[in-house]
Amino acid sequence: MAPASREGPVIGTEPAGTEPAASNAAAGRVAIITGAARGIGAATVRALAADGWSVLAVDCAGDDEAIPYRLGTKAELDAVVAETAALAGRAGGADRIGSFVADVRDPEALAAAVAVAESRWGGLDAAIGCAGVIAGGVPQWEVPLDQERAVLDIDLGGVLNLARAAVPALLRRPEPRSGRFLAVASAAATRGLPMLAAYCAAKAGVAGLIRALAVELGSTGVTANAVSPGSTDTPILAASARLYDLASPQDFAAHQPAGRLLAPAEIAAVLAFLAGPASSGMTGAVVPADGGLAL
Ligand SMILES: NC(=O)c1ccc[n+]([C@@H]2O[C@H](COP(=O)([O-])OP(=O)(O)OC[C@H]3O[C@@H](n4cnc5c(N)ncnc54)[C@H](O)[C@@H]3O)[C@@H](O)[C@H]2O)c1
Repeated sequence: MAPASREGPVIGTEPAGTEPAASNAAAGRVAIITGAARGIGAATVRALAADGWSVLAVDCAGDDEAIPYRLGTKAELDAVVAETAALAGRAGGADRIGSFVADVRDPEALAAAVAVAESRWGGLDAAIGCAGVIAGGVPQWEVPLDQERAVLDIDLGGVLNLARAAVPALLRRPEPRSGRFLAVASAAATRGLPMLAAYCAAKAGVAGLIRALAVELGSTGVTANAVSPGSTDTPILAASARLYDLASPQDFAAHQPAGRLLAPAEIAAVLAFLAGPASSGMTGAVVPADGGLAL
């Protein structure tokens, strides 16, 4: 599939309410989040918006011929923005949330998204790569080439593209900086999951990228970290269940010491912590949020 064409931002338009503005340390901070139409990305938009961030929610908002399940839609992306803008609006910040349609395989589209965030809100403080897909279900040597390419290009290439577009913007903030580059890896980054070889390779690549970026960013004040979720109740997990011929994604819960699937908000809470000031001592970390799956 050709990369989705980009569009201008759609900014929430809920009227400002009378409740006090968000007053925590995130007020005035600006984030761009990919994969924001649903799942972990959407939950991260909600978490950061609740913390007072301005957020540009980015998603391809359309299906991919190589990926055998539905991806997020424009309607879902718009709904996330409308819902969070309404909440932000009650704190006087309806104009803090916007959306942008971009395929993370398209570096120019991501550069345009970063430019929108900077021009609308005055800079960029966090870039969070949540966009991802899964495919497989057969041994690596039998996976159709277009599926393997899509998984590598989106799950690893998309994070590389986000870093290329966003890190210079994070570095454009004046010193002392507190920028955050964050990505969602997976328990698959450290485990050999059969029938998901390209996914495991891409997520291991994300972990390696984060470690290298952290060293490259050094003493700039900008950090790079990742979160590795375990089985989390989103559409990608339902797609994984189909790849394994499981009756339900709930079947994954038995493999996780916590004994249940995680909620997207539980992963978003860790990403929100990493985006915030309290994570200043962490860089190059790949943090499990996996109900013990990697143990
Ligand atoms: N859910 C889990 O169990 C789990 C576990 C480990 C890691 N992860 C990772 O978490 C991240 C979020 O996944 P999720 O669980 O929310 O899945 P999801 O399918 O609900 O959401 C993924 C989002 O990414 C978007 N997307 C896909 N390809 C894109 C592209 N080329 N450009 C822009 N956007 C694109 C989709 O439209 C969708 O909105 C992914 O990187 C996934 O690999 C999920």
